Amino acid sequence: MSYVLILYYSRYGATEKMAKEIAKGVLSQNIEARIRTVPPVGPSTDQLIPAIPSDGAIYVSKEDVKGCSGIIMGSPTRFGNMAAPLKYFLDTLGDLWFAGSLVNKPAGVFTSASSMHGGQESTLITMMLPLLHHGAVIAGIPYTETILTQTTSGGTPYGASHLAGPESQLGLSKDEITLCFKQGERVAMLAKKLQ
Ligand SMILES: Cc1cc2nc3c(=O)[nH]c(=O)nc-3n(C[C@H](O)[C@H](O)[C@H](O)COP(=O)(O)O)c2cc1C
Repeated sequence: MSYVLILYYSRYGATEKMAKEIAKGVLSQNIEARIRTVPPVGPSTDQLIPAIPSDGAIYVSKEDVKGCSGIIMGSPTRFGNMAAPLKYFLDTLGDLWFAGSLVNKPAGVFTSASSMHGGQESTLITMMLPLLHHGAVIAGIPYTETILTQTTSGGTPYGASHLAGPESQLGLSKDEITLCFKQGERVAMLAKKLQ
């Protein structure tokens, strides 16, 4: 049974909301959308955390990554970069890189940020880099999605984005929701073609 892995980290919930909208686009292509998250990390990364989070998606396993037909990764923008918990998990995937587990699989990226020009696109690029090393085929959002030229909130050709506002007070806009859907739909469509 093929599935697209939607792997995200979210501290305050905005990136998680995007993951759920992206999942709808994946499901529209009749492929399972497997939503997974990563545990937080802190100055002491060996701290014990419950194996199952109290709410939201369950934690990703290497098997989830290994067996996917496509992958869509999301993170809050943190100083123009992906958040440490996602990077921490990615840095454990050396064996999957060695085995070529993501080679020729389509991949997309998404982010939530508090400000319009505070690094949405640079954060999206930071998530592309490890995916390129893994041999994944990066899929952005093409300008045939004409909302890209009209949105006054988030949404980039590099991937879906959300403008959350300084207090994370802004919900997902209609345009952001549409572009999340389109991103999920596109990666799922490519997963079927590349399989
Ligand atoms: C340590 C830290 C760094 C951040 N850096 C940026 C930044 O560079 N640009 C920006 O626009 N927002 C920045 N933010 C705000 C988050 O990107 C924003 O609140 C995001 O919507 C959080 O997503 P979440 O609700 O999924 O956790 C930062 C937040 C934190 C905690």
